[in-house]
Amino acid sequence: MVLIQLLAATLVLLIILLHFGNAYSLSRDEFPSDFVFGASTSAYQVEGAANKDGRKPSIWDTFSHSGNGHMYKGNGDIACDQYHKYKEDVQLMANMGLDAYRFSISWSRLIPDGKGPINPKGLEYYNNLTNELISHGIQPHVTLHHWDLPQKLEDEYGGWVNRSIVKDFTAYAEVCFREFGDRVKYWTTVNEGNVYASFGYDLGMLPPQRCSPSFQANCSRGNSSTEPYLVAHHMLLAHASAARLYRKKYKGTQHGFIGFNLLTFGFVPLTNTSEDIIATQRVQDFMIGWFLNPFTFGDYPDIMKKNAGSRIPSFTKKESNLVKGSIDFLGINFYFSFYVKNSPAIQQIKDRDYMEDIEVETIQLTTNDTSPFEVPITPWMLQCVLDSVKKDYGNFPIYIHENGQQTLSNSSLDDWSRVKYLHEYIGAMANALRSGSNVKGYFVWCFLDGFELLGGYEMSYGLYYINVKDPSLKRQPKLSAKWYTNFLKRKPMDPKVTIEIGKNQLFPSHASLLDNAK
Ligand SMILES: *[C@@H]1O[C@H](CO)[C@@H](O)[C@H](O)[C@H]1NC(C)=O
Ligand SMILES: *[C@@H]1O[C@H](CO)[C@@H](O)[C@H](O)[C@H]1NC(C)=O
Ligand SMILES: *[C@@H]1O[C@H](CO)[C@@H](O)[C@H](O)[C@H]1NC(C)=O
Ligand SMILES: *[C@@H]1O[C@H](CO)[C@@H](O)[C@H](O)[C@H]1NC(C)=O
Ligand SMILES: *[C@@H]1O[C@H](CO)[C@@H](O)[C@H](O)[C@H]1NC(C)=O
Ligand SMILES: *[C@@H]1O[C@H](CO)[C@@H](O)[C@H](O)[C@H]1NC(C)=O
Ligand SMILES: *[C@@H]1O[C@H](CO)[C@@H](O)[C@H](O)[C@H]1NC(C)=O
Repeated sequence: MVLIQLLAATLVLLIILLHFGNAYSLSRDEFPSDFVFGASTSAYQVEGAANKDGRKPSIWDTFSHSGNGHMYKGNGDIACDQYHKYKEDVQLMANMGLDAYRFSISWSRLIPDGKGPINPKGLEYYNNLTNELISHGIQPHVTLHHWDLPQKLEDEYGGWVNRSIVKDFTAYAEVCFREFGDRVKYWTTVNEGNVYASFGYDLGMLPPQRCSPSFQANCSRGNSSTEPYLVAHHMLLAHASAARLYRKKYKGTQHGFIGFNLLTFGFVPLTNTSEDIIATQRVQDFMIGWFLNPFTFGDYPDIMKKNAGSRIPSFTKKESNLVKGSIDFLGINFYFSFYVKNSPAIQQIKDRDYMEDIEVETIQLTTNDTSPFEVPITPWMLQCVLDSVKKDYGNFPIYIHENGQQTLSNSSLDDWSRVKYLHEYIGAMANALRSGSNVKGYFVWCFLDGFELLGGYEMSYGLYYINVKDPSLKRQPKLSAKWYTNFLKRKPMDPKVTIEIGKNQLFPSHASLLDNAK
């Protein structure tokens, strides 16, 4: 009798769990078998050993040591010390069941002056890290430029504003292809080219902090009207030149792929007026069309050429052909979404900066379920981004290179908000795949609590917590690390996760989102 009651109770519990399981839980089996799940970092944010073994400063070292644009304290001198702890980190990745690790090569560690001699210790480090990953069955996905141009090239000729960068970047890329390309199959030339150009050269708030002094009193040099366009142009040419070299000389034997990375946002018109709808298209063109139009069609979007006039460089026929078709995949970083409102106020200013050329107002889309410092979770917007890239530019392979929730670094190891964030975005990706999107992989930002460009050590994105004040720099798994591990290993997930998440409607339609905006 007791046994039967117990059995019945178990059965009821099972049915409840299965019910929630069907409705809300997420399974790795919804993804194709060759879909890669990984986690990301970048060199300056985690490596440390900034002044060790022959490495020289990058523009990010300079930015940090001159006060991080008054935003926060700290620098990447020690960071997570992955330079010395890479074996431990790769073991953690293997234990989690990661398919892939996205990291970046520090150009000034490999080639300290940006060009010229290779640093043998730098070469040895990236060989060590790559071999350690491969021997644990983890694919290396490597970025060549992640906000960290060698300072020497900035000093010598202005870095990305000068066309000389194309030759030096290509030579650096070749060293990487030649030395690591037998094992590295996924190369991203530039991380967030669009943000680098606008925040580094228009707003001047991120490295290398250039902008028009009249526009931003804290800049000592730069020109917000012209330099963002010039920098993006050189990034496109540098990428295309490296891709051509790879295809001509290395692809035949190494069989790898070469891509470019952009930061994307979900953009929704604030109202259904044609002004706001057109403004939304305009901001998309300026944010991602800036790069995707040249990659797909060989030229900038018409609206950019119209608004920026002679301030935007033009492609020669030869350059246009070189850039067109030069990406094998697109890497996208996605964090949050904005409403877009048309803002026709600024028509008559002659020397407008890049942001003013867009002439829109963006208002961060908020939801009710996040605390301060955390970003609103809008997974349906990731789906919109994937759908619109497919519609506007073709269905080339996409890797989500970064996606993750920001929390205060001193908050709890029980990072429920991050678990919820990852759960919902991975779910959105499964939906996008079902509707024909060509997403090939997903990387959580960030593997470790590192040195964040917009928040230093005060903000955290890591699956692993690191207390930077504790010299041991011990890695402690957060709940999100355990959740991701269970997801990757097809283990049952804490029912609390599925039930918690089940409380909210996961994917409101676009229309109901617009209604909320009223
Ligand atoms: C400009 O510098 C001042 C102090 O010199 C600082 O208070 C302010 O936050 C800076 N502005 C920006 C955008 O960096
Ligand atoms: C690379 O690995 C070898 C063998 O473990 C070790 O002796 C060497 O110090 C490592 N070098 C770097 C720069 O990591
Ligand atoms: C670009 O750099 C080269 C040196 O590499 C220099 O001769 C040239 O004047 C620079 N061009 C501009 C426009 O600053
Ligand atoms: C920026 O460059 C443009 C075009 O060369 C020039 O007309 C303008 O005066 C420059 N602005 C500043 C702030 O130097
Ligand atoms: C947020 O909460 C308020 C009050 O509970 C509710 O009226 C509103 O619809 C909610 N907004 C969203 C976007 O869920
Ligand atoms: C956590 O950090 C924030 C901002 O850095 C600070 O305001 C808060 O007091 C800190 N909380 C604890 C418990 O240390
Ligand atoms: C905006 O358009 C959508 C889709 O056509 C519609 O469902 C919604 O009611 C419209 N909203 C407004 C504010 O007109």
